[in-house]
Amino acid sequence: MSQIRTTSLALVLLSLLVFPLSGCGDRNSQADLNPSTGKHSDPAWLPTGHTIAVQDHGYACTECHGDDLSGGISRVACTTCHLGNQQQVHPLKWGQYAYALHSQFVKENGSTSCAVASCHGTDLNGVAGSGPSCSSCHLGGPTSAHPQEWNKDIISLHAGYIGTYPASSCATAVCHGTDLKGAFLSGPGCTTCHPDFK
Ligand code: HEC
Ligand code: HEC
Ligand code: HEC
Ligand code: HEC
Repeated sequence: MSQIRTTSLALVLLSLLVFPLSGCGDRNSQADLNPSTGKHSDPAWLPTGHTIAVQDHGYACTECHGDDLSGGISRVACTTCHLGNQQQVHPLKWGQYAYALHSQFVKENGSTSCAVASCHGTDLNGVAGSGPSCSSCHLGGPTSAHPQEWNKDIISLHAGYIGTYPASSCATAVCHGTDLKGAFLSGPGCTTCHPDFK
């Protein structure tokens, strides 16, 4: 008798444990992959969908992407796109200073690893919900912070900028600082050379 009671109690406990979990079944790993196509079919999977899925049930990615997320049976390593590690898109040492430290990286490695459809776009013009256009900060196109012709002699050529570019294009937090007093690790303050600059 007590044997039967224990068993049925165990069953009740088991169903309490199992059914609430299966109620969340639409958020599990299987649901991330469309069984008929064998692909992630959420149209927003890249870039936002997979980030949210990782936060919600990241443990489930290893089933197909491998225990160390280096590909597994899916053959897609997270680092196919990410430059840092499985979780971090940018090189780890950039930390908070991507705005300044990316410059050296691109000079050394080129921009191929940025020009990815889900990252900064194949044309480097940015991707909605993901990486910004490189030209959103740069005045000279994807790989030139300043207008390209300035690179010949920036000291004399920047002097004529006022006619062509609004001062607000230098006065950004990541370029020369919103007060034009310079940005940490980035552009110098205008006052370094123009002491009487307001
Ligand atoms: C049931 C197997 C399976 C699971 C679980 C799974 N994936 Fe995938 N994943 C795949 C396969 C297969 C591909 C290659 C086909 C494709 O691109 O959809 C892939 C591709 C991807 C891609 C590249 C998509 C593209 O369009 O280039 C990303 C990003 C990705 N998975 C992220 C994740 C994340 C994050 C998780 C966990 C939340 C996860 N996957 C769980 C099988 C899986
Ligand atoms: C096809 C390219 C691609 C693949 C493959 C990929 N990711 Fe991403 N991932 C991105 C992009 C692009 C972002 C940036 C999204 C943004 O800025 O909103 C991102 C962002 C993330 C983030 C947010 C952290 C950050 O630095 O912004 C996490 C977490 C993440 N991915 C996890 C994974 C995991 C885990 C896998 C492998 C299972 C994976 N990703 C595979 C393109 C990819
Ligand atoms: C948030 C603003 C911002 C974005 C977005 C941005 N950059 Fe930059 N970039 C800068 C700043 C500021 C500098 C100058 C940094 C320095 O001198 O250390 C710079 C400098 C550079 C340089 C060095 C050449 C030069 O003219 O100084 C290269 C190459 C470069 N960026 C490439 C890129 C690429 C490629 C992208 C897009 C994937 C990109 N940048 C996106 C702000 C940005
Ligand atoms: C490394 C020193 C240096 C820095 C930093 C610098 N300038 Fe200059 N700037 C000069 C020199 C030198 C001239 C005179 C060039 C000439 O006439 O050939 C000049 C000229 C100018 C002129 C033309 C009018 C004038 O006063 O001669 C303007 C406007 C100007 N700079 C704006 C700026 C702004 C805005 C910044 C910051 C974003 C800046 N400069 C940063 C050295 C600098």
